Amino acid sequence: MFMRSLLIGVLAAGAFTAAAQESRFGTPATQADIDKRFWSTYPDGAFLPEGQGTAVLGKPLFEEQCALCHGTPAERGPNDVLFGGHGTIGTDQALATIGSYWPYATTVFNYVRKAMPYTAPMSMTNSEYYSITAYLLYANDIIGENDVIDKDSLPKIEMPNAGNFIMAYPEVPMPYRTQE
Ligand code: HEC
Repeated sequence: MFMRSLLIGVLAAGAFTAAAQESRFGTPATQADIDKRFWSTYPDGAFLPEGQGTAVLGKPLFEEQCALCHGTPAERGPNDVLFGGHGTIGTDQALATIGSYWPYATTVFNYVRKAMPYTAPMSMTNSEYYSITAYLLYANDIIGENDVIDKDSLPKIEMPNAGNFIMAYPEVPMPYRTQE
C-alpha cells in the first residue's frame, strides 16, 4: 500500500512538472530565438548574418536613429564622435573614432547591432545594420558610397589603424571560438 501510494505520488509529480513546464515557462526556444540572443560576430567575420547594405541606404537611417546623439560628420553631437580624427592617434590631439582607431570593420557591425540605437539595441534588421555600418565606413573615407557590405565583403575591409595594434601573446589560440 505504501509502495503504491508512493508510485502514484511520483506519477502525479511527473504530470505536475510537465504541466508546469508548459504554463510557467512558455514554449521552448526555437533556433531563431537562440540566434537572436547570441548575436556575437567575430573580428574575422565568423557568424556574420545574411543581409546587405550600402552607405546610400544607411545615411537616412543614421540621420533618423543615431545623429541625435552622435551628430553628423559636419556637426558634433552630445555623445561619442564617430567620424574623423584620422592621423591623430599617438598625438596629443588624439581623437579615437571608428575611422581613426578601430582595427576591425566587423566590430562596427557587431557593436552597433548589439548596443545601438542606445534605447533600442537589436531593433533593426540585419540589412539595416549593414547599411549603417556601410555609412559609418563611408563617412570615415574607408569605402565608397555604393560599395555593398555583407558577410563576405565586411571582413575584407582594411581599417586605417589596424597595423598599430599588436597581439601581445600571438602563440595563444583564440579562446572564444566555440562553434563553427
Ligand atoms: C540616445 C543616444 C544614442 C543614440 C540614439 C545612439 N547612440 Fe551610439 N552611443 C551612445 C552612447 C551614450 C554611447 C557610449 C556607450 C558606452 O560607452 O557604453 C554610444 C556609443 C556608440 C559607439 C561606440 C563609439 C566608440 O568609439 O566607442 C558607436 C559606434 C555608436 N554608438 C553607434 C551608434 C549608431 C550607429 C546609432 C544608431 C543606430 C547610435 N549609436 C544611436 C548614445 C546613443
